[in-house]
Amino acid sequence: MQELKRTHMCGQLSARDSGERVVVTGWVQRRRDLGGLIFLDIRDRTGIIQVVADGEVSKEAFETAGTLRSEFVVGIKGTVVMRKADAVNPKLKTGEVEVIAEAIEIFSRAQTPPIYIEDNSHVTEALRLKYRYLDLRRPSMQESLMLRHRVTMNVRRFLDQNGFLEIETPMLTKPTPEGARDYLVPSRVNPGSFFALPQSPQLFKQLLMASGVDKYFQIARCFRDEDLRADRQPEFTQIDIEMSFVDMEDIISLNERLMANIFEENLGVKLKMPFKRMTYKQAMEDYGSDKPDTRFEMKLVCIKDIVAGSGFRVFSDTAGKGGDIRGINAKGCGDSLSRREIDALVEYVKQFGAKGLAWIVVTAEGVKSPIAKFVTSEETDAIVERMDGKPGDLLLIVADRPGVVFDSLGGLRLHLGRKLDLIDKDAFNFLWVTHFPLLEYDDEAGRYVAVHHPFTSPVSEDIQLLDSHPERVRANAYDLVLNGMELGGGSIRIHDTIMQQKMFEVLGFTKQKAEEKFGFMLEAFKYGAPPHGGIALGLDRLVMLVAGKENIRDVIAFPKTQNAACLMTGAPAEADGEQLKEIHIKLDLE
Ligand code: AMO
Ligand code: AMP
Repeated sequence: MQELKRTHMCGQLSARDSGERVVVTGWVQRRRDLGGLIFLDIRDRTGIIQVVADGEVSKEAFETAGTLRSEFVVGIKGTVVMRKADAVNPKLKTGEVEVIAEAIEIFSRAQTPPIYIEDNSHVTEALRLKYRYLDLRRPSMQESLMLRHRVTMNVRRFLDQNGFLEIETPMLTKPTPEGARDYLVPSRVNPGSFFALPQSPQLFKQLLMASGVDKYFQIARCFRDEDLRADRQPEFTQIDIEMSFVDMEDIISLNERLMANIFEENLGVKLKMPFKRMTYKQAMEDYGSDKPDTRFEMKLVCIKDIVAGSGFRVFSDTAGKGGDIRGINAKGCGDSLSRREIDALVEYVKQFGAKGLAWIVVTAEGVKSPIAKFVTSEETDAIVERMDGKPGDLLLIVADRPGVVFDSLGGLRLHLGRKLDLIDKDAFNFLWVTHFPLLEYDDEAGRYVAVHHPFTSPVSEDIQLLDSHPERVRANAYDLVLNGMELGGGSIRIHDTIMQQKMFEVLGFTKQKAEEKFGFMLEAFKYGAPPHGGIALGLDRLVMLVAGKENIRDVIAFPKTQNAACLMTGAPAEADGEQLKEIHIKLDLE
């Protein structure tokens, strides 16, 4: 063992090392027997090196090599030599050289693994997650882990250089009534009481501003018990930032520099600065989304004024009821899509609550449309002109409540963007979306809820509308969007007790409930709180986009499934009776 102390990582050997005696360690990727020679591919996290065991060089090493199988863990001592010209493997980083083995030690034997340790092997995700430690051996997964590390280091270095302090905040904290569902942790010492795992460090970072910390950050683990999707995990990591005595511009500029730094260092990409900006209103009206993918056009076009008085009741009734009527122009799709494919689009929008999708195919001879018989030719001409319809184009129109129009056309736009391959996969379109509404009415709850969170400040000129038209009040809130994904969100906060109390009141909290839930916060602001604001960026999402992956599970070492479970450990699992008793819990399961 002593003799086999590693000198080099596998992937680092090159022509420079030719003639060197080295020791490499790692896993056997492959063994090929060619009579008197045995070729081994040895893998560690840096890559693969070819090792040659030659009976003429070392009989012992040759014999040991003959017993090796995939995923055995070995140490190999040998000499680096240049490969013959015809044996050079340009696909391999180390492909110019190989190591002639003089001694081989087996550290560990391996059973045949249930999944192939190589990229692009077709394995179900369930199997990958069950054997995650094997899945992580694959080069692309190792690359993801290393990238995530580098990005995290970039963040730490950058924020440190800009005067930020990294401060940890508690994991066992207080349940809050806003936002997603909490993960609760029963207290043994205080029967009947529960901690909640943090959905974000929001309250603590604001209190740190009241403490005079001035600039805080944390690579913070957050927990949310919500329905999962490709870009959501029940536990995930935020780059959480808070600053005192700043406005939105300070936070935007800091984050643009941070992103520029990360993209330059990890991808060699120079981001165009400053990033584009768009108000929430414009984002919704043009893209039907508060996180528009601006890598392609196909904007929503309003045609409400054209058809408000139409004989087609779907249009005139919708307009009369304060609804919206918009369309998108799928360029060239009038020619390229079959009738069946168009019908599939009509079906597609139904998932967003749309009751129908009117379509118009523009041809050189006129239009083809199921609504042609209900609308006048003047109306049709005006729609075609407004939507810039050219022969071959397919115009797709939805009339409904504004929310349904935005969701369905926004969704349809993305669907078509992917289907028609309109998206430039190499582009990084950063966008700030600003001026979000402060509040939205929640039909289920029967009250207004905060769009961002209850600590976000209203735009000062809108404060007067808080009582009369809460839905019209804009927030000092901003989201950072990248390629149609919400990368982060933040706001300038309320730092005044009276304003914060007012906000709780608008959100329907009684004084008593506000006191009970957030009394410590309201009190803290009474002792001198600086104006402050911040943001949190989803680290998993950021790394996913930098890595060019489509699922955040691919950049998380041990992720959960869609059902919020860990297939490897079997968590969550039942607790035994004794344990439950200790924490004063009795189960009542149907
Ligand atoms: P918000 O709730 O917008 O803001 O979260 C900030 C960012 O965190 C990421 N994110 C997630 N990533 C993976 N899985 C999830 N389930 C998940 N949920 C959120 C997103 C999101 O943009 N305290 C505020 C921030 C602030 O105001 O400073 C907050 O948590 O990328
Ligand atoms: P109908 O009269 O319901 O058969 O609808 C006639 C056409 O209008 C069909 O092509 C429907 O898809 C379309 N349509 C129906 N409701 C809507 C709506 N809310 N918005 C847009 N198009 C609609």
